[in-house]
Amino acid sequence: MEFYLAPMEGITGYVYRNQLHKSFGGVTKYMTPFLAPVPKRVIKTKERRDIAPENNEGIHLVPQVLTKDVEGMLEITQTLHDYGYREINFNLGCPASTVVTKGKGSGFLRRPEDLDRFFDRVFAAFPEDMQLSVKTRLGYEKPEEFQKLLAIFNRYPIMELTVHPRVREDFYGNEVNLAMFALAYEESRCPVVYNGDIVTVEDYERIRERFPKLERVMIGRGLIQNPALVREIRGGMPLSEEELHRFLQELYLEYSRELGNHKDAMFRLKEVWGYVAKRYPDRMREIRNIIKAKNETDYEQGVRLFFS
Ligand SMILES: Cc1cc2nc3c(=O)[nH]c(=O)nc-3n(C[C@H](O)[C@H](O)[C@H](O)COP(=O)(O)O)c2cc1C
Repeated sequence: MEFYLAPMEGITGYVYRNQLHKSFGGVTKYMTPFLAPVPKRVIKTKERRDIAPENNEGIHLVPQVLTKDVEGMLEITQTLHDYGYREINFNLGCPASTVVTKGKGSGFLRRPEDLDRFFDRVFAAFPEDMQLSVKTRLGYEKPEEFQKLLAIFNRYPIMELTVHPRVREDFYGNEVNLAMFALAYEESRCPVVYNGDIVTVEDYERIRERFPKLERVMIGRGLIQNPALVREIRGGMPLSEEELHRFLQELYLEYSRELGNHKDAMFRLKEVWGYVAKRYPDRMREIRNIIKAKNETDYEQGVRLFFS
């Protein structure tokens, strides 16, 4: 089984990816949070840093792009090609209102005919030595929309299709729709990647049993909550508190180094703690102290107290 780290805007930037890779490994493909091409500059400075090869040494990284614009897509493809990338992932899943109202991310799924035309034009001009993978939801409003979408995906040489079996209206809640994922599993022309709600070894086993020929899964929140999840799935040791402490401490120091101060690093770590907290429902008071910390001294003390 191949394990991919899901892109998570605000969390899985290069600092997080590198630390996860160094401390736990196990992930075979990392995806950047989405890059949204802008006219003239194409890639923003922060995004440039995130994809710079020197910040991503030794890991298999796939940049993800969010756009509805053919020219923008082809321009950023060229830029990413120049950086040495040979796979790009196309985002059809983002449910954020600011994205959807512009017809991007899962907002694009509302206009299947336009999406078809987009792929037609993009693939006609796509560099021969590059591949495009897609990350999608089942649809915008109803899971049944997926039938038509899959027929479109199947018309193009997409290298890999990641399906998060929810619709936009679900955001990240409601049950995943495995019956509709089965359609992708059975009828996709390209390999499929399952993504959604794998938080424990049991969650993974359930997906494995239901889709025995599946070879690729992508995990987001489950890995942020438990960075040793892939190791556990592979039969290794469960995450110890000592390990988690060391991982979060090293992550904090790396962010401090990158951002130039502890305070900004603290804000990044608080995001991570929001997920880690789910492992410790009976220690909410200590976690609240960490998440509410106003400065780095309070934060550091909160973390010490939590692990003591
Ligand atoms: C805070 C947050 C940020 C996300 N950012 C992105 C993103 O930039 N690109 C993307 O394709 N999906 C993004 N996602 C969706 C995840 O990649 C993934 O599809 C989703 O969380 C379901 O998988 P999981 O249950 O394993 O977390 C984001 C999700 C969250 C919660």
